[in-house]
Amino acid sequence: MSIFNKIFGTKGIPNNKGIPFTNPIQVEFHSHLIFGVDDGCETIDQSIELLRNFEQLGMRKVITTPHVMSDFYKNSKENIFPLRDQIRERLVQENIQIEFDAAAEYMIDDGFEKKIAAGNLLTFGKDNKHILFELPFMTEPPNLSTCIFELQIAGYIPVLAHPERYLYYANNKEKYHELKERGVLMQLNMLSVLGYYSKPVAEAAEYLAINNLIDLVGSDTHHMRHMQILPEAIQHKIYRKVCESDLLNNYL
Ligand SMILES: [Fe+2]
Repeated sequence: MSIFNKIFGTKGIPNNKGIPFTNPIQVEFHSHLIFGVDDGCETIDQSIELLRNFEQLGMRKVITTPHVMSDFYKNSKENIFPLRDQIRERLVQENIQIEFDAAAEYMIDDGFEKKIAAGNLLTFGKDNKHILFELPFMTEPPNLSTCIFELQIAGYIPVLAHPERYLYYANNKEKYHELKERGVLMQLNMLSVLGYYSKPVAEAAEYLAINNLIDLVGSDTHHMRHMQILPEAIQHKIYRKVCESDLLNNYL
């Protein structure tokens, strides 16, 4: 039974018409639903169950973003796309009406510049030019500036995953504006507005929202526990405020 059945009962399964909260976003971006490749879903059944829940949440499309790191998660198109295709087949079998695709969440680490040079990156967006990247939580990596420059020179549009979660930026908010001025787009984690990660992260999320710095939203769903609190995030006033912007989600 899905979380929505549990919350609302089997009689009133919410859908686009009867859903008790109105999420204007129909494309979910940022999750870890490719099974067995990172710290997200472990089995295809878990992937399918989460996608069923996204469908019931009113999403017409999910672009999932497995971690790519030089040490822990050595993922690439070669292993991601066949697994994505297996999930697509199961979606058809289970009659789950959701479009499903995969990009990636790249860690800016020692090996990332080599990946840029090699090309063949997992991207998203209408022209497949957007690329999602994340940073270590403790310190800004020394090669960040170089990586942003090299991505842009290669024709990519860099998108920073959950900028509110890096406290070295939350404590130095000028940095958000500097990154934006350099052409970096910003993706807010929906759960951040609830204080799910921490209070300072929630405050940074509010700062980004009030200053119209958010370009894209995503759930960063790894497992059912994240899914279970998404409805609460969707109702949050800061999330609502962010959705007033013309977000990139609407064009994916
Ligand atoms: Fe993530």
